[in-house]
Amino acid sequence: MVTGTSLLSAVFPLGSRLNELGRLEVGGCDTIELAREFGTPVYVVAEDDLRARAQAFVQAGRESAHSDFHVVFASKAFPCSAVLALFASEGLWCDAASGGELHLALQAGFRPERIVLHGNAKSEAELRMALRHRVGAVVIDNFDEIERLAQLVADGALADRSAGQPVLVRVTPDVSGDTHEKISTGQANSKFGFGMAEAREAIARLQAVDGLSLQGLHAHIGSQLLGLDPFRREVAELARLGDFPVWDLGGGLGVQYTEDQDVPPSIGEYVATIVSAARENGMRADARLLIEPGRALCANAGITLYTVESVKQNVSRWVAVDGGMSDNMRPMLYGARYEAHVADRFGGETECVLAGKHCESGDVILSEATLADPRPGDVIVTPATGAYGYAMANNYNGVPRAPVVFCRDGEARVVVRRERYEDLTARDVS
Ligand code: LLP
Repeated sequence: MVTGTSLLSAVFPLGSRLNELGRLEVGGCDTIELAREFGTPVYVVAEDDLRARAQAFVQAGRESAHSDFHVVFASKAFPCSAVLALFASEGLWCDAASGGELHLALQAGFRPERIVLHGNAKSEAELRMALRHRVGAVVIDNFDEIERLAQLVADGALADRSAGQPVLVRVTPDVSGDTHEKISTGQANSKFGFGMAEAREAIARLQAVDGLSLQGLHAHIGSQLLGLDPFRREVAELARLGDFPVWDLGGGLGVQYTEDQDVPPSIGEYVATIVSAARENGMRADARLLIEPGRALCANAGITLYTVESVKQNVSRWVAVDGGMSDNMRPMLYGARYEAHVADRFGGETECVLAGKHCESGDVILSEATLADPRPGDVIVTPATGAYGYAMANNYNGVPRAPVVFCRDGEARVVVRRERYEDLTARDVS
């Protein structure tokens, strides 16, 4: 039996290993025991991994020697209070893309001035909420929003009008990277932000609104980017719009989902590239620089555990587990590829399709899995599910959503409980 870390690819949480029994251990916890104790499917998160990645971003900022540099967690990647509180305690800021995410961020302890509010279709209620708390920045997406915000401020929605509400202009710089079209945002024909020409007008209009304080520009060109060049081009484009005290350059750094995937740039390389591009393009040394990583902070900290319910053979060998598109939509939405292993029998050569339990053929987690003779009752692990899995979970087929379990130093604790059948009827009004 092979033990130690040698068989584990870099996609697993830091500190994961195969223990003496050949079982996967995450955060010092035996995953077979976790499955037994908490049931499956379950999202298991290595707490130390989340902290280590947050610290790597902060450290990279320090090493770049740019004093006013802040790491803003894109909360949409893992909008769970325990994750948010952990990142708040590491000194990160928070990106919220809706009133709900703003609520979660405030509840988790982020100070309002460290919260950035996004959205291409913010409601009046969401804008009012942002003004009431006077968040660190409202990122302006369109001309309608300028008018709406100006009206709200004129009507007294801002708690302290003299200070003004800081705002940024979201720019679509017509720069895109190599990623799935559904998560590319920087192209000219994007639903987000102002094109380069309109951005100039937005800047001029905002400068004239009493009670709004235009601080700078924002852009986010896309997600799961594995090259750094698009980030450089993004900064160069933004710089053409003028000199501002704040630049928010968005998120997008890609992660490794499978061992055979291209390796993404390191956090250090990414931050150094962003900071030097900003400097080279004329950003002031005392400007505030924000980045908004989501996936790169949490994807590899999490794994999902499933249990095999059935195995059948027709043209393919179908291994069906107790979760699927209700806990991980990414394979179905973006054709995303994951690894899968039997949690206590890594390796193996049985070619199979790892399917979910949902009533549609598209509910396939991994179409080309190679597992060690999987049988009903086996625990299956898919690593790198810490970003956008929990976030996009749903109740398709009335399947209760999975719990989140934090592991650290061999101790496991539930931070989000499993949904119960009663939760499925909890909002019914009779
Ligand atoms: N900032 C803004 C304004 C964003 O829209 C996003 C992601 C981020 C930051 C964080 O991007 P990240 O560093 O995580 O790439 N559901 C998709 C991802 C959608 C991302 C949307 N915006 C997925 O599962 O791949």
